[in-house]
This record gives sequence, structure tokens and C-alpha cells, in this order.
Amino acid sequence: MIKILVTGGTGYIGSHTVVALQEKGYKVIIADNLSNSNADTIHAIAKITGVKPELEVVDLSCKTACDDLFSRHSDLKAVIHFAAAKAVGESVLQPLFYYENNLCALLNVLQNMARIGCGNIVFSSSCTVYGQPKELPVQETSPRLPATCPYGNTKQIAEDILRDVAKASLLGASPLALSVLALRYFNPIGAHSSALIGELPNGVPNNLMPYITQTAAGLRSCLQVYGNDYNTSDGTPIRDYIHVSDLAEAHLCAMEYLLSGKVKGIDYINLGTGKGYTVLEVIQSFEKMSGIKLNYKIVARREGDIEKIWGNVDKARQILNWQAKREIDEMTLSAWKWQQYISTGLLGK
Ligand code: UFG
Repeated sequence: MIKILVTGGTGYIGSHTVVALQEKGYKVIIADNLSNSNADTIHAIAKITGVKPELEVVDLSCKTACDDLFSRHSDLKAVIHFAAAKAVGESVLQPLFYYENNLCALLNVLQNMARIGCGNIVFSSSCTVYGQPKELPVQETSPRLPATCPYGNTKQIAEDILRDVAKASLLGASPLALSVLALRYFNPIGAHSSALIGELPNGVPNNLMPYITQTAAGLRSCLQVYGNDYNTSDGTPIRDYIHVSDLAEAHLCAMEYLLSGKVKGIDYINLGTGKGYTVLEVIQSFEKMSGIKLNYKIVARREGDIEKIWGNVDKARQILNWQAKREIDEMTLSAWKWQQYISTGLLGK
């Protein structure tokens, strides 16, 4: 069985990716420090796939712990590296934590991949690297703009580290040929169709979809819509929302593409639907699919928000033979079903 390490595999996108990998017969090892996720997720994954993934509770930013993990799994064929902290606002307040946590983990993983001779890595990047693009849809070749927060900067620096390490290996400077696919996600929302796994935000959600579902469930009194004076059809910002299960399937395709040996060095791929929706359009879809009238009000713009972004996703189709299948209504309905499941208190039981 081909053995894959999924770091951050109990997290939101990680857990859906583990499902996709196991359904395709891969042996998955999850490495996660559980700082923003729950160990019970492996039981939910077992319910969905019939296989309980192996969970290694480890902080990858700790070198000795990371070394020890790779020593015990020296037969890995690929790494899918999700493990990172990802809250924009928190990163502004705790930059050192973000740089250490996100970048030391990557360095430790790469050093160990070289040590055990594993040369394939799928990296979890973000459309945040583009900032507010001048031209839409944004392409992989579009310029990266300076990051507006330490979190975004860790994604840019991580892409640069991967580029340099891949280049050194192409120059023959390293015995290991490193092949990298940096996947630039747009806005993942929704949950698995079983409603057994989904996004579990820590405390008050920063992101739109969990805030909507928690408001509808009565856990929050009112959704604040940050600004309706943008240059868009209804004045609210536009994002390219992508169903997390589509995103998970893209990771499987990316990993198989790496394993086929077709990536020389590093490549970057946008993962979105190629379509943008305003905040009010997401709310309308949610209300239609859930039958619930959402309590929301328009407030001032949120600092640092960009006006609009959606991706050109041709490259994913051409290279990975993948494209997003699920539409916005399926995204909002699945997010709502997941919220209802959490509300039953059955999570982890
Ligand atoms: N929004 C609201 N109210 C909320 C939350 C969000 O109106 O309570 C709006 C935002 O203003 C934005 C849209 O909903 O227009 C989406 O906001 P999210 O926070 O869900 O997502 P972002 O696009 O702001 O952030 C995402 C990722 C980040 C990444 C960023 C890059 O979550 O990790 O894209 O732009 F850094």
C-alpha cells in the first residue's frame, strides 16, 4: 500500500483529503498537534471510509518530534502538508508564533523528506498570495502582491522556500529530487455529504460560512456583513467559494500527478470554481437551501479585505484533469447539515 503523510489531517481540509485518499486505497498517516482540531475526527473518517487512519499527535515545528515521526515512517511516498495556523487577525497579533509554527514545521518536514528519500510534496497555499489582483480571473502567472498579514506572508515565504529547495535539487545540489505542487486555494466552504466531518472553528468564527451557520443555529445573534459599498453588483465583496470535497479530490489528483513523476521542480495551481459570489449571494443561497431567514446587518468594511477575487482554473483542468463539480447551493446546504450535526452533540460519539 502506498503510504502518504497528511500533516494537519484532522483539520478541515485535511480530514476531507484523508477521506479521498483512503477511498482510493492509500495508507494514510496523519500528523497533527490538535491545536485547532479534534482527535475524534479519525473516528468520523473511519465511519465514512471503513478505515481508521493512523494519528500521530506531533508538533512538526519541534525538530526532534518531527525527526522522530519520519524515522518511524521512512517508507513514505508523499507528503500533503496542511499543518499551519491560519487566522489572519491572530497572525497580526502573534507574528512570531505564525512564523515559527508555519515555517519551522515546513523546514523540518523538508529536511526529513530529504533524509528518508521522499521527494513529493503537495503544499497548502492560498489565493491570499495574489492580494487584490488587477485583472480577474487571477492566473497562476499573475504577480504576487506583498502580503497584508503575517499569515499571508508565511504562505508566500513557504512557496519561496519550496521553490528554492526544488531548484537546488534540479541543479543536482541535493541527492533528492524534490517535486512540489503548491495549491492556491480560493475560499473553501461546505462539509462532507455524510455531515460527519466539517469545519470546526475555534471560538468565534472569522470566516463567513461558519458565522452564517452558527447564526442560523442560534449560537450567534447576528451576522455582520462587512461593507456594501464595494464596486460589485450588490456592493458586497466577491470570492470564489469552493466545496471542501472538491478541494479534497483535487489534492488526490495533485498527489497522483506528483507520484507519476511529471512534476520537475515546482508548479503552482489555482483551486477554485472560477466563479465569484458576493456575500449577499452566499446568504441568499443559504436561506434558500436551509429555509431559514438569516439575521444579518450591514456594517463597516473589515480592514484588510479585498474587493473581489476569483480564479482562472484552466491549469488545474489541464494538468490535474480536475475541476470543481459542486455548486454554491450544495456548499451552503452541506455546511448547514454539518452545523445541525454538531448541534446534536453527537460529534465524536
Ligand atoms: N464576511 C462578512 N462577515 C463575516 C465574515 C466574513 O461579511 O462575519 C465577508 C468578508 O468581508 C469577505 C467574505 O465574507 O468579503 C469572505 O470572508 P472570509 O473571512 O470567509 O474569507 P476571506 O476571503 O476574507 O479570507 C480567506 C481565507 C484566509 C485568506 C484570505 C485571503 O479565509 O485564510 O482568504 O484573501 F487569507
